[in-house]
Amino acid sequence: MSARYQLSGTTAVEISAGIESGIRTGALSPGAALPPVRALAADLGVSPATVARAYQELRQRGLLVTAGRHGTRVRPRPPVAARRSALRPPPLPGARDLSRGEPDRRLLPPLGPHLAALAADIGPSVSYSDAGVLPELTEVARARLDADGVPAGDLTLTGGALDGIERLLGAHLRPGDAVAVEDPGWANLLDLVAALGLRPIGVPVDDEGPLVAGVAAALAAGARALVVTSRAQNPTGSAVSGQRAEALRALLGGRRDLLLIEDDHAAELARVPLHPLAGATASWAFLRSVSKPFGPDLRLAVLVGDETTVARVAGRTRVGAGWVSTVLQRLVLALWRDPAVDELVRRAAQSYERRRDGLLGALAEHGLRAHGRSGINVWLPVPDETSAVTALRDAGWAVAPGALYRIAAAPAVRITVSSLDADDLVPLAAALADAVNPTPPPGFPT
Ligand SMILES: Cc1ncc(COP(=O)(O)O)c(C=O)c1O
Repeated sequence: MSARYQLSGTTAVEISAGIESGIRTGALSPGAALPPVRALAADLGVSPATVARAYQELRQRGLLVTAGRHGTRVRPRPPVAARRSALRPPPLPGARDLSRGEPDRRLLPPLGPHLAALAADIGPSVSYSDAGVLPELTEVARARLDADGVPAGDLTLTGGALDGIERLLGAHLRPGDAVAVEDPGWANLLDLVAALGLRPIGVPVDDEGPLVAGVAAALAAGARALVVTSRAQNPTGSAVSGQRAEALRALLGGRRDLLLIEDDHAAELARVPLHPLAGATASWAFLRSVSKPFGPDLRLAVLVGDETTVARVAGRTRVGAGWVSTVLQRLVLALWRDPAVDELVRRAAQSYERRRDGLLGALAEHGLRAHGRSGINVWLPVPDETSAVTALRDAGWAVAPGALYRIAAAPAVRITVSSLDADDLVPLAAALADAVNPTPPPGFPT
């Protein structure tokens, strides 16, 4: 914990408010250790139960995490608006930033021409009574999903994949319920699960998707929902194979007590076929976001699922945000209908594949086996994340420490390949090899 930040308060509400304020202002940074319950209670002159209640409330809201002998700490990315710099220290000046998991802006379709066409043909303003999912968008979305073998279901829209997952979990689960998530898995999803007060159960992943035995163990441990990334799993690049999908469908077949959520965020960018699990369980939802192929600022994902699940999400949206703006829907529809945009997305997918395979090949030359079957990230197991990230930073490369993505999985670093040039591959692989197996300092062997 920062030596400067003084925790205060005599009630659980005051103590938790003080901690939250410290997180917001950056005085308590992500990962900062909080004092043990008894020590803080003695400091503040309150009972240990009061401090324990304050910690418990912040844990349930995903601000703190308690991990055995590591004690209680601020979560890596707590869900309170903080100065961004507190959440992610900027890379050193001049360093190449491969830590962000963002698509290459140069490979996103330009929106200008479609926005101009939309402006010329915008028509009268849409009102509360006639807003909703546009029938023509539904038609095109369904055709695209049909082509990939996603079963027909009811359809609605959400403000992106993560918004869809939040609405689905909120509609089916209650705080304290367990949700099975991939381990390693998407950091934002782990943050969301914590913020909703749900309990994550990690399911190990290999290049073909979540392990069947891991899913079975999560079900046996009482998971009420399972979130699977179809392709371009973040951070490992794994994609659910035909064989794995078959085995998982057999395991999940007909379950009535589990909500199955599939996140196909890579969508048109994935260079591997989709093998959906959708429809294997009574409650299911399949989400396809437009963020990665068309641009993260287009906050839209298509959600298909069984009637009850979709009705819950659509109904809850109606009494809150209302709907996804029809202006945005029309823009996405225009992008989907433009063959030139299709071609751009196809080329982007090829380009990411070249960069990923190039880096995997360059690492193999150093005897390193990394992972990245699809998507924009490569996952490289390392013996020690902190020293690997530090050595790479000193060599001019910023990568993401695996700790952001792991529950019990082994240490690794995530390298986003989207901005790499062909010339980068050899020096980057050499720096990664050095970071994994540092050259011993000269002098006597230890
Ligand atoms: C696994 C996964 N799902 C979804 C997304 C995109 O989500 P959204 O549609 O909310 O932008 C990402 C982006 O990095 C991701 O890694």
